[in-house]
Amino acid sequence: MRIDVVTIFPEYLTPLGVSLIGKARQRGLLDVHVHDLRRWTTDVHRTVDDTPYGGGPGMVMKPEPWWAALAAVTEAGSAVGRVAPPTLVIPTPSGRPFTQRDAQRLVALPWLIFACGRYEGIDARVAERARGTMPVEELSIGDYVLAGGEVATLVIVEAVARLLPGVLGNADSVVDDSFAPGAMSGLLEGPVYTKPADWDGRTVPPVLLSGNHAAIARWRRDQALRRTVALRPDLVQRLDPAELDRRDQDVLAAPSVGAEPSSDPGADSDPGADSDPGADPGADSDPGADSDPGADPGADSDPGADSDPGADSDPGAGSGPDPSPSRGDQDR
Ligand code: ADE
Repeated sequence: MRIDVVTIFPEYLTPLGVSLIGKARQRGLLDVHVHDLRRWTTDVHRTVDDTPYGGGPGMVMKPEPWWAALAAVTEAGSAVGRVAPPTLVIPTPSGRPFTQRDAQRLVALPWLIFACGRYEGIDARVAERARGTMPVEELSIGDYVLAGGEVATLVIVEAVARLLPGVLGNADSVVDDSFAPGAMSGLLEGPVYTKPADWDGRTVPPVLLSGNHAAIARWRRDQALRRTVALRPDLVQRLDPAELDRRDQDVLAAPSVGAEPSSDPGADSDPGADSDPGADPGADSDPGADSDPGADPGADSDPGADSDPGADSDPGAGSGPDPSPSRGDQDR
Protein backbone atom coordinates (compact mmCIF):
# COMPACT_ATOMS: atom_id res chain seq x y z
CA MET A 1 0.00 0.00 0.00
CA ARG A 2 1.21 3.49 -0.82
CA ILE A 3 0.43 6.45 1.43
CA ASP A 4 1.17 10.09 0.59
CA VAL A 5 0.70 12.78 3.20
CA VAL A 6 0.61 16.48 2.33
CA THR A 7 1.07 18.85 5.26
CA ILE A 8 2.71 22.12 6.23
CA PHE A 9 4.36 20.27 9.13
CA PRO A 10 6.19 17.25 7.69
CA GLU A 11 7.98 16.71 11.00
CA TYR A 12 4.61 16.07 12.61
CA LEU A 13 4.57 12.78 10.75
CA THR A 14 7.84 11.45 12.16
CA PRO A 15 5.98 8.80 14.19
CA LEU A 16 5.35 7.07 10.88
CA GLY A 17 8.99 5.99 11.06
CA VAL A 18 8.59 4.28 14.42
CA SER A 19 7.29 0.99 15.77
CA LEU A 20 4.68 -0.91 13.85
CA ILE A 21 4.46 1.46 10.90
CA GLY A 22 8.23 1.96 10.77
CA LYS A 23 8.75 -1.78 10.64
CA ALA A 24 6.06 -2.24 8.01
CA ARG A 25 7.88 0.33 5.89
CA GLN A 26 11.24 -1.30 6.39
CA ARG A 27 9.73 -4.59 5.35
CA GLY A 28 8.27 -3.07 2.20
CA LEU A 29 4.64 -3.57 3.23
CA LEU A 30 3.96 0.13 3.30
CA ASP A 31 5.35 2.88 1.10
CA VAL A 32 4.98 6.26 2.84
CA HIS A 33 5.80 9.68 1.33
CA VAL A 34 5.42 12.91 3.27
CA HIS A 35 5.31 16.20 1.34
CA ASP A 36 5.55 19.80 2.46
CA LEU A 37 2.62 21.74 1.00
CA ARG A 38 4.73 24.90 0.86
CA ARG A 39 6.74 23.36 -1.91
CA TRP A 40 3.77 24.17 -4.13
CA THR A 41 3.45 27.80 -3.12
CA THR A 42 4.60 30.44 -5.59
CA ASP A 43 5.06 33.60 -3.53
CA VAL A 44 8.08 34.67 -1.54
CA HIS A 45 6.27 34.15 1.77
CA ARG A 46 5.18 30.66 0.77
CA THR A 47 1.62 31.54 1.74
CA VAL A 48 -0.85 28.71 2.24
CA ASP A 49 -3.78 30.52 3.83
CA ASP A 50 -5.99 33.57 3.49
CA THR A 51 -8.98 35.20 5.16
CA PRO A 52 -12.37 33.50 4.80
CA TYR A 53 -14.96 34.83 2.36
CA GLY A 54 -18.03 35.83 4.32
CA GLY A 55 -15.92 36.92 7.25
CA GLY A 56 -15.33 35.19 10.51
CA PRO A 57 -12.33 34.25 12.58
CA GLY A 58 -9.31 32.30 11.45
CA MET A 59 -7.83 31.56 8.08
CA VAL A 60 -8.68 29.16 5.27
CA MET A 61 -6.13 27.19 3.27
CA LYS A 62 -5.81 28.44 -0.28
CA PRO A 63 -6.86 26.15 -3.11
CA GLU A 64 -3.95 26.78 -5.49
CA PRO A 65 -1.10 25.15 -3.54
CA TRP A 66 -3.37 22.28 -2.59
CA TRP A 67 -4.39 21.59 -6.15
CA ALA A 68 -0.81 21.82 -7.38
CA ALA A 69 0.30 19.45 -4.61
CA LEU A 70 -2.41 16.90 -5.34
CA ALA A 71 -1.68 17.01 -9.05
CA ALA A 72 2.06 16.50 -8.48
CA VAL A 73 1.66 13.76 -5.89
CA THR A 74 -0.86 11.92 -8.03
CA GLU A 75 1.39 12.17 -11.04
CA ALA A 76 4.45 11.01 -9.11
CA GLY A 77 2.58 8.00 -7.76
CA SER A 78 1.18 7.13 -11.16
CA ALA A 79 4.67 7.31 -12.65
CA VAL A 80 5.80 4.51 -10.38
CA GLY A 81 3.10 2.20 -11.51
CA ARG A 82 -0.08 3.01 -9.63
CA VAL A 83 -2.77 2.75 -12.24
CA ALA A 84 -5.92 3.08 -10.16
CA PRO A 85 -6.56 6.62 -8.95
CA PRO A 86 -5.68 7.19 -5.32
CA THR A 87 -8.30 7.83 -2.68
CA LEU A 88 -8.00 11.28 -1.14
CA VAL A 89 -8.56 11.32 2.63
CA ILE A 90 -9.20 14.71 4.20
CA PRO A 91 -9.26 14.50 8.00
CA THR A 92 -11.61 17.13 9.32
CA PRO A 93 -13.88 17.52 12.34
CA SER A 94 -16.65 18.15 9.79
CA GLY A 95 -16.22 14.72 8.28
CA ARG A 96 -18.00 11.39 8.67
CA PRO A 97 -16.89 9.50 11.79
CA PHE A 98 -13.93 7.24 11.08
CA THR A 99 -14.58 3.71 12.37
CA GLN A 100 -12.95 0.29 12.35
CA ARG A 101 -15.16 -0.52 9.39
CA ASP A 102 -13.53 2.34 7.48
CA ALA A 103 -10.10 1.02 8.45
CA GLN A 104 -11.05 -2.37 7.03
CA ARG A 105 -12.31 -0.77 3.85
CA LEU A 106 -9.32 1.52 3.38
CA VAL A 107 -6.76 -1.24 3.94
CA ALA A 108 -8.02 -2.91 0.77
CA LEU A 109 -7.12 0.16 -1.29
CA PRO A 110 -3.71 0.40 -2.95
CA TRP A 111 -3.10 4.12 -2.51
CA LEU A 112 -4.23 6.80 -0.08
CA ILE A 113 -3.37 10.49 -0.14
CA PHE A 114 -3.92 12.39 3.11
CA ALA A 115 -4.48 16.16 2.91
CA CYS A 116 -3.78 17.68 6.32
CA GLY A 117 -5.65 20.92 6.73
CA ARG A 118 -4.79 23.56 9.31
CA TYR A 119 -6.59 26.68 10.49
CA GLU A 120 -10.29 26.65 9.58
CA GLY A 121 -9.75 24.01 6.92
CA ILE A 122 -9.06 23.77 3.18
CA ASP A 123 -11.03 25.79 0.63
CA ALA A 124 -14.02 23.55 -0.17
CA ARG A 125 -13.39 23.71 -3.91
CA VAL A 126 -10.33 21.48 -3.54
CA ALA A 127 -12.38 18.46 -2.38
CA GLU A 128 -15.10 19.32 -4.87
CA ARG A 129 -12.65 19.40 -7.78
CA ALA A 130 -10.79 16.30 -6.60
CA ARG A 131 -14.07 14.37 -6.61
CA GLY A 132 -14.00 14.72 -10.37
CA THR A 133 -10.92 12.53 -10.61
CA MET A 134 -10.71 10.37 -7.50
CA PRO A 135 -12.74 9.15 -4.52
CA VAL A 136 -12.63 11.67 -1.68
CA GLU A 137 -13.34 10.85 1.96
CA GLU A 138 -13.69 13.54 4.59
CA LEU A 139 -13.23 11.75 7.91
CA SER A 140 -13.41 12.84 11.53
CA ILE A 141 -11.64 10.91 14.28
CA GLY A 142 -13.94 12.26 16.99
CA ASP A 143 -16.17 15.04 18.18
CA TYR A 144 -13.44 17.44 19.17
CA VAL A 145 -11.33 19.89 17.23
CA LEU A 146 -7.60 19.35 16.77
CA ALA A 147 -5.20 21.99 15.56
CA GLY A 148 -4.89 20.26 12.23
CA GLY A 149 -5.24 17.03 10.31
CA GLU A 150 -1.78 15.63 11.08
CA VAL A 151 -2.65 13.77 14.28
CA ALA A 152 -5.86 12.50 12.71
CA THR A 153 -3.78 11.24 9.78
CA LEU A 154 -1.50 9.38 12.19
CA VAL A 155 -4.53 7.82 13.82
CA ILE A 156 -6.09 6.71 10.56
CA VAL A 157 -2.82 5.46 9.06
CA GLU A 158 -2.08 3.38 12.16
CA ALA A 159 -5.59 1.92 12.29
CA VAL A 160 -5.34 0.98 8.62
CA ALA A 161 -1.73 -0.17 8.45
CA ARG A 162 -1.97 -2.57 11.37
CA LEU A 163 -4.57 -4.46 9.32
CA LEU A 164 -2.19 -4.99 6.41
CA PRO A 165 -1.32 -8.66 6.08
CA GLY A 166 2.01 -9.32 7.76
CA VAL A 167 2.15 -6.09 9.77
CA LEU A 168 1.11 -7.47 13.16
CA GLY A 169 3.44 -10.06 14.60
CA ASN A 170 0.58 -12.27 15.65
CA ALA A 171 -2.08 -12.46 12.96
CA ASP A 172 -4.66 -13.30 15.60
CA SER A 173 -4.12 -10.02 17.39
CA VAL A 174 -6.82 -8.21 15.47
CA VAL A 175 -9.42 -10.91 16.03
CA ASP A 176 -10.45 -9.83 19.52
CA ASP A 177 -10.00 -6.14 18.94
CA SER A 178 -12.78 -3.93 20.07
CA PHE A 179 -15.01 -3.32 17.05
CA ALA A 180 -13.37 -6.11 15.02
CA PRO A 181 -15.65 -8.48 13.14
CA GLY A 182 -16.17 -11.87 14.73
CA ALA A 183 -17.20 -13.02 18.18
CA MET A 184 -16.57 -9.62 19.74
CA SER A 185 -18.15 -7.63 16.97
CA GLY A 186 -19.58 -4.37 18.23
CA LEU A 187 -18.23 -4.86 21.76
CA LEU A 188 -15.42 -3.28 23.72
CA GLU A 189 -12.62 -5.67 24.53
CA GLY A 190 -12.54 -6.72 28.18
CA PRO A 191 -9.60 -6.79 30.59
CA VAL A 192 -6.38 -8.61 29.75
CA TYR A 193 -3.68 -10.06 32.03
CA THR A 194 -0.17 -11.45 31.82
CA LYS A 195 2.28 -13.00 34.28
CA PRO A 196 2.65 -13.06 37.23
CA ALA A 197 -0.65 -14.69 38.20
CA ASP A 198 -0.37 -13.01 41.59
CA TRP A 199 0.96 -9.48 41.46
CA ASP A 200 1.12 -7.72 44.78
CA GLY A 201 -1.81 -9.77 46.00
CA ARG A 202 -3.86 -9.01 42.91
CA THR A 203 -4.71 -12.25 41.23
CA VAL A 204 -5.69 -13.08 37.70
CA PRO A 205 -9.26 -14.40 37.29
CA PRO A 206 -8.94 -18.17 37.84
CA VAL A 207 -10.83 -19.07 34.67
CA LEU A 208 -7.96 -17.69 32.60
CA LEU A 209 -5.62 -20.22 34.22
CA SER A 210 -8.03 -23.12 33.80
CA GLY A 211 -7.10 -24.17 30.29
CA ASN A 212 -10.81 -24.50 29.56
CA HIS A 213 -11.03 -22.67 26.22
CA ALA A 214 -14.81 -22.61 26.06
CA ALA A 215 -15.06 -21.20 29.58
CA ILE A 216 -12.39 -18.61 28.78
CA ALA A 217 -14.18 -17.53 25.61
CA ARG A 218 -17.43 -17.23 27.54
CA TRP A 219 -15.77 -15.23 30.32
CA ARG A 220 -14.20 -12.87 27.79
CA ARG A 221 -17.53 -12.31 26.12
CA ASP A 222 -19.19 -11.64 29.48
CA GLN A 223 -16.52 -9.09 30.30
CA ALA A 224 -16.86 -7.46 26.90
CA LEU A 225 -20.63 -7.23 27.28
CA ARG A 226 -20.35 -5.73 30.76
CA ARG A 227 -17.76 -3.23 29.75
CA THR A 228 -19.74 -2.18 26.71
CA VAL A 229 -22.91 -1.69 28.77
CA ALA A 230 -21.00 0.45 31.25
CA LEU A 231 -18.98 2.57 28.86
CA ARG A 232 -20.79 2.50 25.53
CA PRO A 233 -24.53 1.95 25.92
CA ASP A 234 -24.90 3.33 22.41
CA LEU A 235 -23.08 0.25 21.09
CA VAL A 236 -25.35 -2.08 23.07
CA GLN A 237 -28.35 -0.50 21.34
CA ARG A 238 -26.83 -1.43 18.01
CA LEU A 239 -26.23 -5.10 18.84
CA ASP A 240 -28.21 -7.48 16.67
CA PRO A 241 -30.56 -9.38 19.05
CA ALA A 242 -30.29 -12.40 16.75
CA GLU A 243 -26.59 -12.54 17.58
CA LEU A 244 -27.17 -12.62 21.34
CA ASP A 245 -27.49 -15.99 22.99
CA ARG A 246 -29.33 -16.66 26.22
CA ARG A 247 -26.25 -16.12 28.34
CA ASP A 248 -25.52 -12.80 26.58
CA GLN A 249 -29.02 -11.63 27.41
CA ASP A 250 -28.62 -12.68 31.05
CA VAL A 251 -25.34 -10.81 31.32
CA LEU A 252 -26.83 -7.72 29.75
CA ALA A 253 -29.79 -7.89 32.10
CA ALA A 254 -27.72 -8.50 35.24
CA PRO A 255 -28.29 -5.75 37.79
CA SER A 256 -24.58 -5.39 38.47
CA VAL A 257 -24.02 -4.45 34.86
CA GLY A 258 -24.80 -0.79 35.21
CA ALA A 259 -22.36 -0.41 38.06
CA GLU A 260 -19.28 -1.37 36.09
CA PRO A 261 -16.57 -0.81 35.41
CA SER A 262 -15.48 0.89 38.55
CA SER A 263 -15.18 4.61 38.47
CA ASP A 264 -12.32 4.15 40.87
CA PRO A 265 -9.84 1.90 39.10
CA GLY A 266 -7.47 2.03 42.02
CA ALA A 267 -10.02 0.71 44.48
CA ASP A 268 -8.89 -2.40 46.24
CA SER A 269 -11.78 -4.53 45.12
CA ASP A 270 -11.11 -7.75 43.24
CA PRO A 271 -8.90 -6.49 40.46
CA GLY A 272 -9.51 -9.44 38.28
CA ALA A 273 -13.21 -9.47 38.16
CA ASP A 274 -14.32 -6.24 36.66
CA SER A 275 -11.48 -3.82 36.76
CA ASP A 276 -10.89 -1.25 34.13
CA PRO A 277 -7.57 -2.09 32.54
CA GLY A 278 -7.65 0.88 30.30
CA ALA A 279 -7.59 3.11 33.28
CA ASP A 280 -4.26 1.94 34.64
CA PRO A 281 -2.69 5.29 35.20
CA GLY A 282 0.83 4.09 35.60
CA ALA A 283 1.31 1.59 32.82
CA ASP A 284 4.40 2.55 30.89
CA SER A 285 3.55 6.17 30.97
CA ASP A 286 5.27 9.14 32.40
CA PRO A 287 2.85 11.85 31.57
CA GLY A 288 5.13 14.65 32.51
CA ALA A 289 8.29 13.38 30.93
CA ASP A 290 8.24 14.52 27.38
CA SER A 291 5.01 16.25 26.89
CA ASP A 292 4.72 19.94 26.80
CA PRO A 293 1.38 20.64 25.29
CA GLY A 294 1.84 24.33 25.36
CA ALA A 295 5.26 24.35 23.82
CA ASP A 296 4.40 25.36 20.30
CA PRO A 297 2.72 28.67 20.78
CA GLY A 298 3.74 30.05 17.47
CA ALA A 299 2.93 27.04 15.38
CA ASP A 300 -0.05 28.44 13.59
CA SER A 301 0.27 32.08 14.32
CA ASP A 302 2.44 33.02 11.40
CA PRO A 303 2.32 30.31 8.84
CA GLY A 304 4.48 32.21 6.44
CA ALA A 305 7.30 32.35 8.91
CA ASP A 306 7.52 28.65 9.56
CA SER A 307 10.67 27.12 8.34
CA ASP A 308 10.55 24.42 5.77
CA PRO A 309 11.57 21.45 7.85
CA GLY A 310 12.09 19.16 4.97
CA ALA A 311 10.13 19.19 1.80
CA ASP A 312 9.19 15.72 0.75
CA SER A 313 10.87 14.36 3.77
CA ASP A 314 10.49 10.75 4.46
CA PRO A 315 10.33 10.66 8.22
CA GLY A 316 12.05 7.76 9.71
CA ALA A 317 12.83 5.90 6.54
CA GLY A 318 16.21 4.60 7.48
CA SER A 319 16.99 7.62 9.59
CA GLY A 320 14.73 7.65 12.60
CA PRO A 321 15.13 5.90 15.87
CA ASP A 322 15.45 2.16 15.79
CA PRO A 323 11.89 1.05 15.27
CA SER A 324 12.52 -2.27 17.01
CA PRO A 325 11.28 -2.00 20.55
CA SER A 326 13.57 -3.73 22.96
CA ARG A 327 10.94 -4.59 25.51
CA GLY A 328 9.40 -7.40 23.54
CA ASP A 329 6.23 -5.50 22.91
CA GLN A 330 4.06 -6.87 20.23
CA ASP A 331 2.89 -3.54 18.95
CA ARG A 332 -0.71 -4.33 19.50
N1 ADE B 1 -8.81 18.03 12.23
C1 ADE B 1 -9.11 18.76 13.32
N2 ADE B 1 -9.90 18.09 14.15
C2 ADE B 1 -10.11 16.87 13.57
C3 ADE B 1 -10.86 15.75 13.95
N3 ADE B 1 -11.55 15.71 15.07
N4 ADE B 1 -10.87 14.69 13.12
C4 ADE B 1 -10.18 14.74 11.97
N5 ADE B 1 -9.46 15.77 11.57
C5 ADE B 1 -9.42 16.84 12.36
